[in-house]
Amino acid sequence: MGMELVNAVLDDAIPSTGEPIPYFHSFFRMADGSTVAFFEAPELPPLQAPPHPAYDTFQHIALQVDSVADVDRWHAWLVGNGVEVLGPVDHKIIYSIYFHDPNGVRLEITTPTSPLWNDNADAARVSLDDWQTVKERAAESGDDIVDVLAELTRERSHRRS
Ligand SMILES: [Fe+2]
Repeated sequence: MGMELVNAVLDDAIPSTGEPIPYFHSFFRMADGSTVAFFEAPELPPLQAPPHPAYDTFQHIALQVDSVADVDRWHAWLVGNGVEVLGPVDHKIIYSIYFHDPNGVRLEITTPTSPLWNDNADAARVSLDDWQTVKERAAESGDDIVDVLAELTRERSHRRS
């Protein structure tokens, strides 16, 4: 995404744990000045698949661009470079594409399409309280937590509102 490589560290052990694993650690500067870092450690075995494919959807990093046109440009660029891309998906509040980076990290390129997309704290608090209350009531009554939360999500799906 045009991020500049701003630093790199090579070491023969992980400083925080002392594990003797040689690695390359690269830092790329993002538009807001923060950095995203990647590691390459050739002696490590490949990651195992998660126990359910949905983890591969839920666990991701989203990178924001300025417009729907920018998302579409990245979609075309990725596909043109042989990357499998999911979407674009119009979530009504954001517009996104999803793909994997060369390390297998799921990435999202997204842009807001509603000014409320990250300014809706009151509704978020209500949803969180409802989610917690339903779980607590199920725990007290012995109802199946998965079933009662599935019912709540059917009632409240943002895709149906
Ligand atoms: Fe996301």
